[in-house]
Amino acid sequence: MSNIGSYDERVKNFSWKQAENELEYKEGQIINIGWYCSDRICEMGKADKLALIWEGRTPEQQKKFTFNDIRGYSNTIGAFLHELGIRPEDRVCLFMDKIPELYFGLLGILKIGAIAQPLFSAFGDESLFVRLDNASTRAIITQRKHVSKIHKILDRLPDLEFIIIVDQPENKSLKEREVVFNMEASGPSDHLDIYPTKAESPSLLHYTSGTTGQPKGVKHVHYSLISQYLTTKWVLDLKDDDIYWCTADPGWVTGTSYGIIGPWSLGITQCVSDSGFSADSWYQFIDRHRVTVWYSAPTAIRSLMKAGDDLVKKYDLSSLRHLASVGEPLNAEAVIWSQKVFGKPFYDTYWQTETGSIMIGNFPGMKVKPGSMGKTFPGITGVILDDATGEPISEPNKSGLIGFKYDWPARMRTYWNNEATFQKKFKNGWYLTGDKSTIDPDGYYWFIGRDDDVINTGGHLVSPFEVESALLEHEAVAESAVVSKPDEVNMEVVKAFVTLNPGYEPSEELELKIMNFIRKKLSPLAMPQEIEYLDKLPKTRSGKIMRRLLHAQEWGEEIGDVSTLEDD
Ligand code: PRX
Repeated sequence: MSNIGSYDERVKNFSWKQAENELEYKEGQIINIGWYCSDRICEMGKADKLALIWEGRTPEQQKKFTFNDIRGYSNTIGAFLHELGIRPEDRVCLFMDKIPELYFGLLGILKIGAIAQPLFSAFGDESLFVRLDNASTRAIITQRKHVSKIHKILDRLPDLEFIIIVDQPENKSLKEREVVFNMEASGPSDHLDIYPTKAESPSLLHYTSGTTGQPKGVKHVHYSLISQYLTTKWVLDLKDDDIYWCTADPGWVTGTSYGIIGPWSLGITQCVSDSGFSADSWYQFIDRHRVTVWYSAPTAIRSLMKAGDDLVKKYDLSSLRHLASVGEPLNAEAVIWSQKVFGKPFYDTYWQTETGSIMIGNFPGMKVKPGSMGKTFPGITGVILDDATGEPISEPNKSGLIGFKYDWPARMRTYWNNEATFQKKFKNGWYLTGDKSTIDPDGYYWFIGRDDDVINTGGHLVSPFEVESALLEHEAVAESAVVSKPDEVNMEVVKAFVTLNPGYEPSEELELKIMNFIRKKLSPLAMPQEIEYLDKLPKTRSGKIMRRLLHAQEWGEEIGDVSTLEDD
C-alpha cells in the first residue's frame, strides 16, 4: 500500500494540518528545519539509524553517518558559525561539491537561525559574484579548490567577512578573510542552542534565472517543511526501510527540498554520490546500495536510454521500488522505456524553485499517462489561465499559463531585494508559473513549454540575458544574442550569435576561446555549445535584438510577425 493510498480520498479530505500533526507542530510554536531533520529523529528513537551513505569520486571513498552523527555535526557547524559572529538571518553561502559538510552545514546554518544560500560549486566567478552581492552574504563555506574564484571577486564584496575552508591543508597559509573549519577534527557536538525560528522565519535563499535582469533570490521560510515533508511522503512514497537516492545537487532546489529536508524530516536513509554521471557508475551505485526509491531528471534518464538496454541487464536493480523525475519535460518514450527495463515507469513531477515543493505529479497507485506531468498535489489549486484575459479556462485541453492559488506552505515569500519582480508574478490573484500547459478531462497536465526566453538545459535554467552580458565582456564580441537550440539528450542547449569587434575574424579557435571564457565566468551549463558569427544581429527598429527570430530559425518554426524588424 502506498503512503498516499487513494488520491481522490486525499483530495477530498485534505488539510495541511495532517502534516502539522504528524510533525507535532502547532501554529505559533517554534519550527526549525535543522532540528526537525536531526534532533527530532534522534528523539524518536532513530539516533543510530543510518541517515547518510556518502560516496566520493570512487566507491572506496565511502562514509556513513547516523542521525546522531548529523545531529552532532550540524551542532558543531552551527556553534562554529555562531562563535564567528553569524547571527539570525545573516546569509551564509554553501559553495561545495556534494560532500558531507554541505549537507550538515545546511542544517547547522538553519539551526542558528541564519539563512542558507546554497550555490552550485561549478559556478564561475561572475555567477558567484552576482548572487553573493545580491544577498549581501556574510560568510561562505567552501573547499580549497574553489577559493580562487572567491578571491577574484572579493574586492567587490565588502559584506563577505569570512571564507570558511573545510579542507585547508595544515602547511598552507591563510589569505585575507580566510578561516579554517575542519568538521571531522572538531568532532560532533552534543549541544547547541537552537534558535527559536518560527513559521515565517527565513530559511533558504535559492537563486533562479529569469529572461531579463540578474538572477533572483527565492526566499523560503521554515514553514516550508510542512509541504516538503508531506510531498516527500506521498509523492516519493518514502517508508522507514527505504534507501533513497536523489541525484540532484543541493545547489539547486531539488537537492535541498528532496535531497535534505524531505527525506531527513521523515527519518529516511539516503545515499549521495559525489562522482559525475556515467550510466555504468549510476547502475553500480543503485546495485551496491540497494537503492529503493530514486528521484532523478529527464536528461539523466535519456542518457541512460542512450547507453542501451543491455547495460541495465548487467546489474541487479531489483531493489528499485519507485522512480520519480523532475526538472524538464519527461518524454513519453522515456517513461515507456523505464517500464520496459526497470519494470516500472518514472513518475514525472512538476514544480519550481519558487514553489519550494512538488505541485503536480504522478502519484503511486495512480494511472500514469506517459508524457503527462500528472495531477495537482492534494491541497493545491491549479488552473490554466487564458492568454488574453488571465482568467481560468474551464474547458479541458485548452492551452494557457499554469497558475496556482497562492496558499501552500512552501511557496516563496519574495525575491530577495526584489519585491517588485515578486509582485509581477501574480495576475487576478493567481501565481503565474510562466509555463504553458493543457489539462485533459481527467485532470492530467500536459506541458507545452515556457512562456519566456529562459533556456532549460538538462533541467537547469539559464538566463539568455546573463550569457549575453558575459559574452559582451569578451574583447572580441561586439554584440550578442543567446537562444536555445534543440538537443537530443539535454532537450535544449545554449547557442550564441555574435558580431565581432573590428580586428577580429571568425574562426573555430576564437569560438573555443569564447566558449571557455563563458564556462569559467558563468558555468559549464551556461556555456554556449555553438557560436554562430553574424555580420549583423536582427533587431527591431527601436534597436532591440529579436531573439524570437533566431529561436525560430534554430527550431525550424514559423518566424511570425516581423513587421517591427529593422530594414537593411
Ligand atoms: O519550466 C518548468 C521546468 O523547470 C522550471 C522550474 O525550474 P527550477 O526553478 O530550476 O526548478 C527545477 C526543479 C523543481 C519550470 O518552471 N520543469 C520543472 N519540472 C518540469 C518542468 N518542465 C516540464 N516537466 C516537468 N516535470
